[in-house]
Amino acid sequence: MSSLEFINELYNTHTTSLKGLEEIIKDESNCDYLFEAADKTRRKYSKQEVHLKALIEISNICTKTCFYCGLRQANKVVNRYKIEPDDIINYAKEAAQVGYKTIVLQSGESNIFSDDDMCKILRGIKKFGVQITLSLGEKSFEQYKAYKEAGANRYLLRIETTDEKLYKRFHPGMSLDNRIRCLQDLKTLGYETGSGLLVGLPDTNPEILAKDLMFLKKFDFDMVGIGPFIPADNTPLSNEKGGSVHMAIKLIAITRLLLPNINIPATTAIETIDPNEGRKKALKSGANVIMPSITNGKYQDLYRLYPKKFYIKSDVSETYTKFDNLLFSIGDKVSLENGDSMRFNQRLK
Ligand code: 5AD
Ligand code: SF4
Repeated sequence: MSSLEFINELYNTHTTSLKGLEEIIKDESNCDYLFEAADKTRRKYSKQEVHLKALIEISNICTKTCFYCGLRQANKVVNRYKIEPDDIINYAKEAAQVGYKTIVLQSGESNIFSDDDMCKILRGIKKFGVQITLSLGEKSFEQYKAYKEAGANRYLLRIETTDEKLYKRFHPGMSLDNRIRCLQDLKTLGYETGSGLLVGLPDTNPEILAKDLMFLKKFDFDMVGIGPFIPADNTPLSNEKGGSVHMAIKLIAITRLLLPNINIPATTAIETIDPNEGRKKALKSGANVIMPSITNGKYQDLYRLYPKKFYIKSDVSETYTKFDNLLFSIGDKVSLENGDSMRFNQRLK
């Protein structure tokens, strides 16, 4: 079969073979066709609406040493911070008042917030009638359970790469097995579960990416975030080439065809590399979520997973309006629903 036929198969049946995925990834001559198929699929399943979710980066403290990340523990140049629980609750309140239906709390991986603190934060935020997504890294089943009981709805934990060798190389002291254990625990606990990929890490190839996509399909995630790797200063990969926006968007488009009713963000890393067109291109190729950071400026400067070539310092309501306008310009609008994926809602029925 040709790559075009594989795209058609994906579009019609939402599945294809590993070989089909690899062919689509390699082929550069039918990208517009692929992006259009993904756009049609997204619009069919998400009513021309995009979810805006407010991201608060609650701490940049991290005990891990992922090779690509500017926040890795070994990077001593970073000024580390932790936002106080009451302040986090107040930022979330402001976001809820502006109209955000979901608050995303993200941090490096550490226990700088005790479980009691986290649960207090979650209960505080729940009072504003919003959904809560967490992205705090690998935790124990008991911790995930406690957060769920305190009000967390969703959890994001990217697998980054499913290739054992590469995973080991870029994540010293961590294991693919434990990552998968975490994702399974989150599903078992009834979280809306999200994962995703870092595209363009050194020594990946189309065969590995095809396997990564198959993993996302088989695990049947509710959310998938895909972004290009951006080399960060003071990391072992600082001199590497980095991933491309084009490949990240291609993988987003394929993911939309594989999993038509999930939530897929137009990731910040895409906007960072291509500030003018990046998010728009992603939204026109299958993405249906934007997660603007509303973290207070003094902390946002310090939350550098990678160098931020671009971001506008604006207040919470200006940011909301900016994305509202962007969506209008491409024929979409902000969803007023709670931000669950169609996939998750259907499963509950
Ligand atoms: N470039 C792009 N994305 C990165 N992340 C971490 N470091 C980088 C980088 N240098 C992503 C990882 C992680 C998410 C929170 O940020 O994929 O899962
Ligand atoms: Fe820590 Fe996450 Fe960065 Fe890894 S990617 S070093 S866990 S903040």
